[in-house]
Order: sequence, then C-alpha cells, then structure tokens
Amino acid sequence: MTETLLEVENLAIRFRTHGGEAAAVSDVSFRLGRGETLAMVGESGSGKSVTSLALMRLLPKAPQCTVSGSIRLRGKDGGMFDVLSLPEERMRAVRGNNLAMVFQEPMTSLNPVQTIGAQITETIRLHRPMTRRAAEDEAARLLDLVGIPSARQRLSAYPHHLSGGMRQRAMIAMALSCEPSVLIADEPTTALDVTIQAQILDLLRRLQEQTGMAVIFITHNLGVVAEIADRVMVMYAGRVVEQAAVLPLFEQPLMPYTQGLLRSVPRLDLAGRRTGALPAIRGNVPDPRYPPAGCAFHPRCDFFIGGRCDSQAPALDITPDDRQVRCLRWREIAA
Ligand SMILES: Nc1ncnc2c1ncn2[C@@H]1O[C@H](COP(=O)(O)OP(=O)(O)OP(=O)(O)O)[C@@H](O)[C@H]1O
Ligand code: SF4
Ligand SMILES: [Mg+2]
Repeated sequence: MTETLLEVENLAIRFRTHGGEAAAVSDVSFRLGRGETLAMVGESGSGKSVTSLALMRLLPKAPQCTVSGSIRLRGKDGGMFDVLSLPEERMRAVRGNNLAMVFQEPMTSLNPVQTIGAQITETIRLHRPMTRRAAEDEAARLLDLVGIPSARQRLSAYPHHLSGGMRQRAMIAMALSCEPSVLIADEPTTALDVTIQAQILDLLRRLQEQTGMAVIFITHNLGVVAEIADRVMVMYAGRVVEQAAVLPLFEQPLMPYTQGLLRSVPRLDLAGRRTGALPAIRGNVPDPRYPPAGCAFHPRCDFFIGGRCDSQAPALDITPDDRQVRCLRWREIAA
C-alpha cells in the first residue's frame, strides 16, 4: 500500500433545515494513497459533494452546518495534520497547495468578471512566490497542458468567451496550478462530449504518473470509473455502503444497491440482444430528514426481509478479502 496522503475517519455532516436536522453524511471513513484514484459514486443526494466540500472546509458554518470526525492530510513537509482544527488562515494555504478541487459547475467557481489569466495567475501567486510575468508564463503553460489551444491568447479571455469544455479545462488548470498532492474532481467531465472527456481523463492520468498526485473522482458514469479508478466507494443516503478495488467490485458487487447501479449500465456485449429498457433501481433516495429505519436502502431492495432489514441498521462489515460492505445479507448474496 502506498504512503497515505489523506485519511478520513467517521466524518459526519449535519444541516439545519426548515424541516429539522438532516444528516447529509454519516460515519464516512476512507484513506487515499499517493498516486491513487478513488472513485466516489452514488445517486444524486448521496453526499458526494458535501463530503468533498467538507475536505476543503467550504461548507457553511455552524449552526447551519456541523461537521465532526477527523480529516488528516499529509503536508508537504511529510507530516500529517488535522484539517478540521486548522485556523482559517492556514486553511487558505492548504486549499491549492495540498488539496484542490474541480467543482461540479465551473461557472460557480470561475469569476465571470475576471479574465482566465488573471484568475490563474492570482492563484499561483497566492501560493508560490513569483513575479507577475513568471506567473503568467506558468498560467499559459498550464492552459497548454490541459489542451487549451492558443493558450497564451486565452489568458485574456473571460469565462463566458469559452465553451463548456474549455471552461472545465481552465478549472482543471487552476486546480493544478499549485501542484496539490490531492485533487478532488467533482463530475469534472459530465458536461463534456465523449472525446473531450477521454482527453481530460488521459490528462489526469498522465499528471498522476508524473507527480504522484492522488485523485478523488466523483462521477455518475460507471464507464469512467472502470477506466480510471483504483478503488471505488459507493455512497447511499450519506453512508458508505460498499468499498472495494475496482475489478472485484465490478465482477461481484456485494451490496444490492451497487448491484442495481451496475445493472443500469449499458453493456456493449449485450447490445441488440437486450429487449426493453435497462433495469433502473425502483423508488427514490430517502429524504435525509426522515431516514428509513434499519437499512436505509430497504424500501428499494429486492433482498429485503421484513422484521430484519427494516429494524436493524447494518454495520459496515469487512470481508475476508478486505472489502467493505454494509448489508445484513451480504454473505448469502456473495454465496
Ligand atoms: N447547504 C445545504 N443545506 C442543506 N442541505 C444541504 C446543503 N447542501 C447539501 N445538502 C444536502 O446534503 C445531501 C447531500 O448532497 P450532495 O450535494 O452532497 O449530493 P451529491 O451526492 O453530490 O449529489 P449529486 O450527484 O446530485 O451531485 C442532500 O440531501 C442535499 O440536499
Ligand atoms: S440490509 Fe437488507 S434491505 Fe439493506 S441492502 Fe441488505 S438485504 Fe437489502
Ligand atoms: Mg454533487
């Protein structure tokens, strides 16, 4: 196992809403090693984005939102430090230097009234002592690296001058500008067409090989997961329900929710032979203010057993081959 860069333990995130307290994330633990890619998957509302915002310490403050548990990052000096207890001023240096994020929606994180060049240059100079001219050269180099044509001229473009794909690349360039040891990419390719998606995934992979950067990749696209992830963490209703290396997870998903997710992916080898629509998971994700009793997935599960699944909350079990699964019946399912 490679050197740990990030260690999250028992992360819990609660929001105060009009309808009462909502547990958006509960008991989430994972680790990320140097050069590793962890894919975070799960339906809309399962807590993927709030987990990454907690890592970046970008969630609203208490009492609107409370975060507990522990988030430890490896600093560039080699030691681990605690993210949640860091003073805001130190945290500002951590964002970019150690931990950077490509946001789900680039327009919300790019400043519409500032040129791309000014935004990247500013980020670089915030973290690295450099003259404006040198930072501009570096910004042009980064835009070129992420495949933006005529990079030097693009420095004077405003975000609305760029297409969606180019904006997403500019966001990635900005996130990479301080050579973070951990990059969080929240649906970085969803808005892009397939060719550009492939180019961006390829770019991330090359950067990882060169720098040993670790990546948390959030996506709905299981094809992308199969292609880039080392490990997969499946989230449901704010909890980790399964975690495993990518191959065993695709070969034999143990948690019924993961099985449902994988069944709803089109398979090329079955193309033309399948009749009717792809099977979707019936029902909807629960409202975090009113979680179902027992297993949160029980109202939608084909393996549900009354009197058991609706009363006993499953723990996250460790299997003999070191996978994690949250289901009362995983042993029977595996057999
Ligand atoms: N500021 C907020 N106030 C209250 N609830 C919030 C807030 N931000 C997120 N939530 C809730 O937290 C839960 C998790 O949301 P999150 O955005 O992490 O989902 P997600 O897994 O990223 O979904 P998607 O795939 O749609 O991006 C949701 O129930 C959401 O409504
Ligand atoms: S605990 Fe029961 S309801 Fe939950 S996933 Fe397992 S079989 Fe399904
Ligand atoms: Mg999200």
